[in-house]
Amino acid sequence: MDANSYLVTELIDAGLNRREARWLVEEFSPTDPEPMAAMRAAAQRRLGGEPMQYVLGHWPFRSLDLDLDSRVLIPRPETEELVGLAFEELMKRRLHAPLIVDLGCGSGAIGLALLYELRQMDVQATLVAVDSSPGALDVTRANARKHDLDGVTTVHSSWFDALDRSLLGRVDLIVANPPYVGATEFATLDPALGYEPFAALVSEDTAYAEGFFDLQVIIGQSGPWLVANGLLICEHGNMHRAAVLRAAHDAMFVDVRDLDDMFGNPRFLMAKR
Ligand SMILES: C[S@@+](CC[C@H](N)C(=O)[O-])C[C@H]1O[C@@H](n2cnc3c(N)ncnc32)[C@H](O)[C@@H]1O
Repeated sequence: MDANSYLVTELIDAGLNRREARWLVEEFSPTDPEPMAAMRAAAQRRLGGEPMQYVLGHWPFRSLDLDLDSRVLIPRPETEELVGLAFEELMKRRLHAPLIVDLGCGSGAIGLALLYELRQMDVQATLVAVDSSPGALDVTRANARKHDLDGVTTVHSSWFDALDRSLLGRVDLIVANPPYVGATEFATLDPALGYEPFAALVSEDTAYAEGFFDLQVIIGQSGPWLVANGLLICEHGNMHRAAVLRAAHDAMFVDVRDLDDMFGNPRFLMAKR
């Protein structure tokens, strides 16, 4: 057995599964005492229940390796699908330099992945990344630097409140994965969610639905910021299909659709101004 195999076995004996034990050994390449201690400390964090994404401090999201810490939500596979939908829509429109607003950017996952993939296709998009959490904006800026993505402006704002009004009527695409879990439902979910920022997950109830407050604000206020035919794409909760369709119609959107995710759950609102 080589040194790494011994370490993998040590971590499995401590309680990690084989895959996670391998990840930690590969991450820390612990040949010296210092990385060895760091690897063992990381294993203890994981064994204590902390998500692997925070323990490693980075995780793949579409084509990017995003830095992550407890200031931001761990991006989910469904959200990778949302990026795919947005990318296809923008490619169909053949815009040379679309303006994208990512509301509740967190790690920057949606906006930065879109920017990166569009640039691969010679589309010079620009991004306005908005969050009410200064920590999340720091992580978005760090991820933009990490991937050499210029053309990114970060805005500390509650949704549209502090957005530059010169953007009114100029945005080609608004994407959002806002908090959408109701407080009652949150209490029943996996306790590991407690490692993620509460404000990234939980939203107040409204007359439309539980956990719908932030979606209602976004759907209700997006219209005037979009160009004619501009697109709004929002991720939402399993129980929100009726509510998002109603809110989008109430806000005078057209071509309103709601799509399932890869697990067959209602997930993505798409609507045009
Ligand atoms: C579900 S997370 C999504 C993060 C990232 N977009 C993703 O998909 O991984 C929601 C994000 O919305 C932010 N947020 C919550 N309330 C907000 C508000 N009123 N205005 C702006 N951002 C808000 C949170 O800080 C968090 O980063």
